[in-house]
Amino acid sequence: MAAAIPPALVVDEVHAAAEGVRAVTLRAPDGGALPAWPPGAHLDVELPNWLRRQYSLCGDPGDPYRYRIAVKHEELSRGGSEYIHLFLRPGTRLRVGAPRTTFPEDTPPGTLYIAGGIGITAVLAMFVRDVRRGYAPTLLYAGRSRAGMPFLDELPGDAAVVVAASDEGRRLDLPARARSLPDRSEIVTCGPARMTAAVEAAFGGERFGRVHVERFRAEPRSFADDRAFVAECARSGKKVTVPAGETLMDALLKEDVPVGAGCREGVCGSCEVGVLNGEPEHRDLLGAPEGRMYPCVSRSVTETLVLDL
Ligand code: FES
Repeated sequence: MAAAIPPALVVDEVHAAAEGVRAVTLRAPDGGALPAWPPGAHLDVELPNWLRRQYSLCGDPGDPYRYRIAVKHEELSRGGSEYIHLFLRPGTRLRVGAPRTTFPEDTPPGTLYIAGGIGITAVLAMFVRDVRRGYAPTLLYAGRSRAGMPFLDELPGDAAVVVAASDEGRRLDLPARARSLPDRSEIVTCGPARMTAAVEAAFGGERFGRVHVERFRAEPRSFADDRAFVAECARSGKKVTVPAGETLMDALLKEDVPVGAGCREGVCGSCEVGVLNGEPEHRDLLGAPEGRMYPCVSRSVTETLVLDL
């Protein structure tokens, strides 16, 4: 039987993975096996200061006893990285959710991975998997300096890796890379918003396959004015009015309708729910699958939305 995720994991180790980056290893309280995770997955972590954050699993998917995440100390921390850098110690218990992924579970040979800074945590396990199975992937890894770029020493020595540290005067030339990349190649990227926008601009044309993007945070965007609507919860029978200015998620939680809450910015996928009737107004950055939506940001085009809740 597959291992179930314990409600809390124990911090086994905290150490510096690069300047301003801490790697945190987690294990089950009883030392038992943890659920398997696909490369590219992330973990919802509830910190003792009540913040909930998503961190990519960047350890070895073949190790059933340990999960590893890595966290950059953000200058404009909203509390998550600050807590981990200043207060998190071995022995602390952290509530977690089961690993989830918004990346494809598989990637084709020749996939191009592009990571910016701490974005390496999202693509590292996928890249290493592809190298090990002979898929000849390429990794472009950019950062301000090598000292601040984690896991450089874990990249397979025989793999195609381009490291672009800007303090060495090296930057990624994405348009040039796009010109030389074979048709139908797929691209997987994670990094700061400016970088992921540049990746989408360079590789978003018809010549390439899919561009899979994982974002740290949603960029500021504007939408038409909010309109009120009613969410009908098919399973509980509750009807929840969602006024303008309040998110569907908040309205549901106020009425004790449980929904997963993570980033609240439409980038992590924790809050995904099924839509049985009505037309959602999608405002997420994940690209909701048909018949699904993310209530932390998305609303409704129709006056009523029937949800699988
Ligand atoms: S909470 Fe992250 S997508 Fe909704």
